[in-house]
Amino acid sequence: MVDVAIVGMGYVGVTTAATLAHIGHRVYGLDIDVGRIELLSRGKAPFYEPHLDELLARNLERMHFTTDYGEAIPRADVVFIAVGTPSLPDGRPDLRYVEEAAREIGRHLNAERFTLVINKSTVPIGSGNWVEAHIRRSFSETHGEANGRFAVASNPEFLREGSAVSDSLYPDRIVVGADDPRAREILRKLYAPLVAQDFSPPESVPRPEHVQTVPYVETDTATAELVKYAANAFLALKISFINEIAALAEKVGADIRDVARGIGLDRRIGTSFLQAGVGWGGSCFPKDTAAILATGEEYGLKMPIVAAAREVNFAQRKKVVEKLLGELKIIKGKTIGLLGLSFKPNTDDLRDAPAYDIARELLEKGAFVRAYDPVAIPRAQREWNLDIEYRKSVLDVARGADALVLVTEWKEFTELDWTEVARVMRTPVLIDGRNALPGKVVQEAGLRYIGFGVPAHF
Ligand code: UGA
Repeated sequence: MVDVAIVGMGYVGVTTAATLAHIGHRVYGLDIDVGRIELLSRGKAPFYEPHLDELLARNLERMHFTTDYGEAIPRADVVFIAVGTPSLPDGRPDLRYVEEAAREIGRHLNAERFTLVINKSTVPIGSGNWVEAHIRRSFSETHGEANGRFAVASNPEFLREGSAVSDSLYPDRIVVGADDPRAREILRKLYAPLVAQDFSPPESVPRPEHVQTVPYVETDTATAELVKYAANAFLALKISFINEIAALAEKVGADIRDVARGIGLDRRIGTSFLQAGVGWGGSCFPKDTAAILATGEEYGLKMPIVAAAREVNFAQRKKVVEKLLGELKIIKGKTIGLLGLSFKPNTDDLRDAPAYDIARELLEKGAFVRAYDPVAIPRAQREWNLDIEYRKSVLDVARGADALVLVTEWKEFTELDWTEVARVMRTPVLIDGRNALPGKVVQEAGLRYIGFGVPAHF
């Protein structure tokens, strides 16, 4: 068993905490937000994430949540930094929270023992050294010694919101970057139960059959930091690529869903992340693609492929409005209903959600915008300053509407009876912004179905 402290109780921090406790370690969760700590102490995640409450509740005896660095850091063998790194206006990540965490860690580091500090926040390449310098400085300010006994390693996170628990317990790989042999040894010990899958899976998140052991990739710090950016940039450009091909499919009358399957079955390409539609949002792809470009620029390096992936992506949101214009001719005064607000299903996260840009543009064009989302409405009411009328159900949104736009492919929408929806609309037009619906069924239910790169007639 390893004693672990985790600074930052966001998505990554809380999921990592619950996972490490589940595989047998003792975990201290740290955050400056008292409300968060209180919720977590009762086994409740401070955000919506399927199965996370269950994992927390099950492992609460090995977890302790606190706002006090002094309580957690001196007891820990391993300290994770899992604070946010939001984008600055120029695309570079704002490292102020990482710096603050590093300073607090340095101040409270146990001078008597070796501590490994692991960066899980997505930070620019080379930040390992920078974090180390901050810890060293605040350690010597407090202890009056030049050197604390610690090392800094990088351990990027690949979990997805909405499937964070499964991604953490059964990852495709674990990547650790450490230059210090002591750090490598502790990391191996920390992750041994995950690598060997030596723990009992929670009932609601069973182990997928193909997962027996987890590949463990050991690198130097800078390499691990670059793996994270390269992985997200690659996934982002895979989606932008299919969206570009979807535009061509529309012109030539081909069906992008079959194109995606046709290319994806080539194992070198792979079928996932080839779903065309309104494109990617969230807290990761927009931020990380901007950050990798900013890093390139610092070295005078142009990265045209990543830049194009961004350009294609943000243009997808405008296509919704173009498609509506094509159908309705005039948008001003029309009522448009949005189905789904979060950037993807199974989360209430609204960061860089396509729904925001779509709603804003429709409002600018004089439309009335209504919306329904199974979980994200309270958050949208708090965080978005847009004149959207939030409704309680799909039918409530559809009643008297001139068009619906499916923005997030929640299960509730993909399993809907569309006949009733068609009946209550003023003009039954449906833009499927995720190509998630059975077009033929929707069309037979009486709606005009418009996808992204799918033929208009069935
Ligand atoms: C992403 C990565 O998938 C994770 O591996 C990574 O750990 C995480 O970022 C991070 O850096 O923290 P996440 O942003 O939670 O995870 O969600 P994804 O499932 O990757 O979806 C991102 C966006 O792409 C969503 O808006 C989704 O709707 C969109 N998407 C995804 C598509 O438009 N098409 C697809 O085929 C797949």
